Amino acid sequence: MTVDDIRKVCVVGAGTMGAQIAQQVALFGYPVALFSRSGERLDAAVTSNARLLAKRVEKGKLEQADCDAALARVTTHTDLEAAVQDADLIIESVAEDRETKRHICQQLDAAAAPEAIIASNSSTMASSLFADCIAHDERLLNVHFFNPALVMQLVEVVRGPHTADDVVDTCVEFVRRIGKTPVLVEKETYGFIANRILFIAMQEAFRLVEDGYVSMEDADLAVKNGLNWPMGPFELADLVGLDVTEDILSQGHVQTGEDRWKPTGILTGHTGRGELGRKTGKGFYSYK
Ligand code: 3HC
Repeated sequence: MTVDDIRKVCVVGAGTMGAQIAQQVALFGYPVALFSRSGERLDAAVTSNARLLAKRVEKGKLEQADCDAALARVTTHTDLEAAVQDADLIIESVAEDRETKRHICQQLDAAAAPEAIIASNSSTMASSLFADCIAHDERLLNVHFFNPALVMQLVEVVRGPHTADDVVDTCVEFVRRIGKTPVLVEKETYGFIANRILFIAMQEAFRLVEDGYVSMEDADLAVKNGLNWPMGPFELADLVGLDVTEDILSQGHVQTGEDRWKPTGILTGHTGRGELGRKTGKGFYSYK
């Protein structure tokens, strides 16, 4: 398969990532079937994408006609079989739960065309963990987007030991065709590239505050002004979600056995109280 064979894309899961991934793909001319079990979640995804693209039109960055066309290219589905029909590339972006992802992979294996590429957007699970769920595992790999997916330039394409070379090449080229910058990860490793660097750096910030060396506000100021990150580590954790942050760290701890990944009390205190960041109105900072 080459990139020209990709004519229709299916995105499975309409959470923060899935919704914006679908919209990004549609902005570059592809019809996209967006699947979720929940009609409400699909409605929320469509509303949020419409609002984000409308802001681009207001700022003069997108023509109204292109905005309307990009929104119309995303169709929503609560029936997985209907969503994957005719899809040449399926991007799985369901909850970061291994059993959920394995179940979805089994369903995709039954419903998708045998030559369709199945790409997992998982941050914490390499595609090897699902390879036994897919008969044609040479079509399986990770294609990992960053949050917010409509804005962040990087997409990591991760070769699994089972992935065919043409599938890797096609995905790298596809990422370019949807206006993003691909990075090819040649071997599976926990956190891939960017998250492995980012979350260990975040851990350092969490420990410096926990051990009383600096306030959270000053740690964020230091990183923004000294390292030119657009957000400090505490602000960024709130954007990513403190539950997602904790999950990435604890999975890292489990999968690598390295203590440097072990979630710190300053983080688990918030998640234990249900303070999950921007999405709940409170995390390290308050957003109400
Ligand atoms: N969703 C979609 N778009 C958003 C957004 C959101 N949550 N927040 C901001 N934007 C858009 C704005 O609409 C605007 O778009 P436009 O210029 O096309 O109209 C653009 O981003 C810039 O926004 P603002 O001018 O309001 O604000 P900033 O310039 O401060 O940018 C930011 C906001 C893009 C979020 C920037 O602060 C940033 O880059 N932060 C770092 C994000 C980051 O590091 N993400 C990686 C997280 S790790 C990860 O995703 C891995 C995963 O596995 C967990």
